[in-house]
Amino acid sequence: MNFEFTEEQLMIQQAARDFAQRELIDDVIERDHKAEYPTKHVKTMGELGFMGMMVSPDYLGGGMDTISYVLALEEISKVDASCAVIMSVNCSLVCYGIEKFGTEEQKQKYLKPLASGEKIGAFLLSEPEAGSDASHQKTLAEDKGDYYLVNGTKNWITSGATAATYVLIAQTHPELKHKGINALLVDKDTPGVSIGPHEDKMGMRSSDTHSVMFTDVKVPKENRLGEDGFGFKFAMKTLEGGRIGIAAQALGLASGALERSVQYSKERKAFGTEIMNHQAIAFKLSDMAVQVENARNLCLKAAWLKDMDQPYGLASAMAKQYAADIAMDVTTEAVQIHGGYGYVKEYHVERFMREAKLTQIYEGTSEVQKIVISRDLLK
Ligand code: CAA
Repeated sequence: MNFEFTEEQLMIQQAARDFAQRELIDDVIERDHKAEYPTKHVKTMGELGFMGMMVSPDYLGGGMDTISYVLALEEISKVDASCAVIMSVNCSLVCYGIEKFGTEEQKQKYLKPLASGEKIGAFLLSEPEAGSDASHQKTLAEDKGDYYLVNGTKNWITSGATAATYVLIAQTHPELKHKGINALLVDKDTPGVSIGPHEDKMGMRSSDTHSVMFTDVKVPKENRLGEDGFGFKFAMKTLEGGRIGIAAQALGLASGALERSVQYSKERKAFGTEIMNHQAIAFKLSDMAVQVENARNLCLKAAWLKDMDQPYGLASAMAKQYAADIAMDVTTEAVQIHGGYGYVKEYHVERFMREAKLTQIYEGTSEVQKIVISRDLLK
């Protein structure tokens, strides 16, 4: 068993750390406050090759492995989890699905601009009545011969307004339930697509989240990803990788909160000494460090399995559930260690705590991950 990273993986980690610590840090608090989209940073992430990290260079991607992806996302999330989710959705939920299941024409037309960062993608699965119960799709994609006619509403869509390309999950044959669902590539500027208002979120406020409505939208047949009825499996396969990304994001929030707590404990004095000298604080730091290390190992194991072309759905569910849950614990403890300073914006940890909450909700709640894990155990 080899726990050493390659030189290339370390270089990518360092590049992500430099970008986050030099650029994202400058305006992250202000963007959170104003719920402002990080336009210039997303552009830089494209230039650095982060928006299509794992896509083959044949389609203008970085050709990097999933371990590098986890390392980069952790570094970015330590500073700015909003940028991390924009990157993660584009890489894992959009680019991956097109590269793995798309036709050559779809890859030329849609994957190249997404992998190079020229355009942004969004993944449209959730609906007002289909969150955790993802097969309960109400959005219809009626088969009209050479096109699908789409009607319905998608909710809580990351990059819903900024994306140019949607991967849309919709029902074509309701009588077949999940076996009747399709995945379609839709250009946002297609007539009949409209965007709901910006969601005023508790955390990840610098990423844009919107409803997207479809009214008699015509989508050409050649935009379907995979065979007729493959859409639900497409979504499940794609989410397996997406969950590695969100696990890495949660890991970054936790490790960022730990680093800030260690630093603060060395500086802040109480009862005549630095607070690190009080066991009440030192034991908290110790518990947080063990949780972070465990989460990192689960993330890297899932990434390694994916890179080795081995099944990774169980590992990614474990990584996502554990990393998200400990991110909530670790960031809450970080606020506690910082005391009054932890509850105000300047020290970042209150933002981390708000952001950690979302990692327990999107790309499958912690409870959904437990369904995946327990079904695997009990099958
Ligand atoms: N790979 C391949 N096939 C899979 C699969 C996988 N990982 N998981 C399930 N399937 C297949 C099953 O084998 C089954 O196929 P057959 O009918 O041929 O046997 C079929 O799919 C149905 O499977 P289940 O009966 O297990 O499906 P279910 O309805 O019970 O749902 C679930 C299972 C895990 C709860 C699923 O609904 C789920 O993952 N829900 C959460 C959805 C989610 O993560 N949403 C996130 C939205 S995206 C987002 O948040 C993006 C963002 O903006 C950040």
